[in-house]
Amino acid sequence: MSEEWIVIRKALPEDARGIAKVHIDTWRSTYTGIIPNDYLAKLSYERAENVWRERISTHEPLGVIFVAAIPNGRIVGFVTGGAERTGEHSYDGEIYAIYVFKEFQRRGVGRRLTSAICQQLVQEGFHSLIIWVLRENPSRSFYEGLGGEKVAEQEIEIGGVSLPEVGYGWEDIRQLFEMKM
Ligand SMILES: CC(C)(COP(=O)(O)OP(=O)(O)OC[C@H]1O[C@@H](n2cnc3c(N)ncnc32)[C@H](O)[C@@H]1OP(=O)(O)O)[C@@H](O)C(=O)NCCC(=O)NCCS
Repeated sequence: MSEEWIVIRKALPEDARGIAKVHIDTWRSTYTGIIPNDYLAKLSYERAENVWRERISTHEPLGVIFVAAIPNGRIVGFVTGGAERTGEHSYDGEIYAIYVFKEFQRRGVGRRLTSAICQQLVQEGFHSLIIWVLRENPSRSFYEGLGGEKVAEQEIEIGGVSLPEVGYGWEDIRQLFEMKM
């Protein structure tokens, strides 16, 4: 199902609060049982809002940010991406984070956010893409459904625990916005 009434647009500084809410609530709904509970419990909306406002204003260090908004203006999802961060992979672009509120998942919002940011990345001169996802995250199927190939693995430390991540790669970013919506 595609929700055409959900608008996808570039983030504005006043979206920081809504993005922080999606970020923290979706971390909690997705990562409970994967990331330590005390780490998830300590996440602060206020701190996250400040961080996101700064990121939107400066585009640093998280490149471009798109949001998904419903007609009353509420932000229900976001995506950020830009240059690949490590220089260790053959992919030049990266999606750093993509989150959609649990109650808005599986309605095509993730696909539309991915398509929007990939069009932007191509305009900025990027050709290929990598996305990292926790190995235990059930949303891995989202990337597999978009044609991502498992190309790398690494460990990431979150909340004092080392967690395996899988990198999905696309040789040609255009695959991700020429997809059927
Ligand atoms: C991953 C995420 C951004 C995808 O956004 P979304 O709006 O739910 O995705 P879409 O509705 O566009 O899904 C497109 C397709 O991806 C696949 N898919 C998406 N989420 C899936 C899941 N949890 N399990 C299995 N398949 C999934 C399905 O094939 C889906 O198509 P279908 O619903 O017609 O079967 C969103 O589910 C989310 O925020 N998940 C929790 C947070 C997260 O894991 N973020 C990624 C961290 S790297």
